[in-house]
Amino acid sequence: MSEESRRQERVPVVQMVVVGVIVSALGVAAGLLIEWFPEQGSTQARTVDTVWDVLIWVSVPIFVLVMTFVLFSVWRFRMRPGEENLDGPAIHGNTKLEVYWTALPAIILVALCSYSYVELKKIEESKPAEMRIKVTGQQFAWTFEYPQAGGKPIASTQLYLPVGKPVRFIVRSPDVIHDFWVPAFRMKVDAVPGIDTSYRVTPRREGSYPVVCAELCGLGHSLMRNRANVVSPSKFASWIAEQKAPAQTAVGGAPDAKQLFTEGNGTAQACGSCHTLADAGTTATTGPDLGKVLKGEDAAAIREQIVKPSAELTPGFEDLMPKDFDGTLSVEELDVLVKYLQKVAAS
Ligand code: CUA
Repeated sequence: MSEESRRQERVPVVQMVVVGVIVSALGVAAGLLIEWFPEQGSTQARTVDTVWDVLIWVSVPIFVLVMTFVLFSVWRFRMRPGEENLDGPAIHGNTKLEVYWTALPAIILVALCSYSYVELKKIEESKPAEMRIKVTGQQFAWTFEYPQAGGKPIASTQLYLPVGKPVRFIVRSPDVIHDFWVPAFRMKVDAVPGIDTSYRVTPRREGSYPVVCAELCGLGHSLMRNRANVVSPSKFASWIAEQKAPAQTAVGGAPDAKQLFTEGNGTAQACGSCHTLADAGTTATTGPDLGKVLKGEDAAAIREQIVKPSAELTPGFEDLMPKDFDGTLSVEELDVLVKYLQKVAAS
């Protein structure tokens, strides 16, 4: 067989199509069977997952088709001994083929874009009687504000949502860019200083879903986690009522120091989310170990470090502590916390 004739042999198109169809079927099946995402926590999640499935249906066969031709060509037209200095045959193009491979991808792309656009509009549609929640991302915690008809909005570090109720999150940041992401809802948006961003979801089943910061925002980025608690409307109503009640106090009237330290008070971030303290059982390392750095300090010095954290920094640690404890902790809570820290740091 001469060089020319061997190189111009016909490609076994039928066999390749058969291989392509079989591999495509396997690829599509695998793509649809793999659990790519967490459970569908919102109605929007179902729409998003359907779009994903359609993309698998369309893109896997194209990928397989291209790879089949590439691999076949690599094998079939490989260089053989004695061909080192030979040029391939001159190719003058094939107008028909070129029209096809330009038009087909263009049609597929336009179709997929139109379909995604329609589905996106559906996801972003405003719903009647939607609840608005202001979400603030701040180094390194989330706070949520629930507007109350004719009253002060309720602020909390916990996120509660009534099942089935459309919600619109208005997302903000006072410091750097964060990203408010609830994977189970399939929605995320950046929290950008200076502007409001937003998205809508309708939680469709009760449960507790992770909330994640999806934008690298500093040392405590990985700690910026929370839960979206989707509960029944009656549970939601009683949670809101609880938040309206005066600040929680332990039996005897005084706030519980250890609880304040490990959980915060609903507005102020918990000390324990960044600091290690043996007595409270916390082990975070964003800030210094308080059992060590506060040892021997008097009450006034400890108070100063809580309300003016930037004044004196522990070497090796950055100025990351919230600067608003003066306002987010009550006078009584601050007293209790200072007394507690003084006691356990001395021991
Ligand atoms: Cu906030 Cu990452």
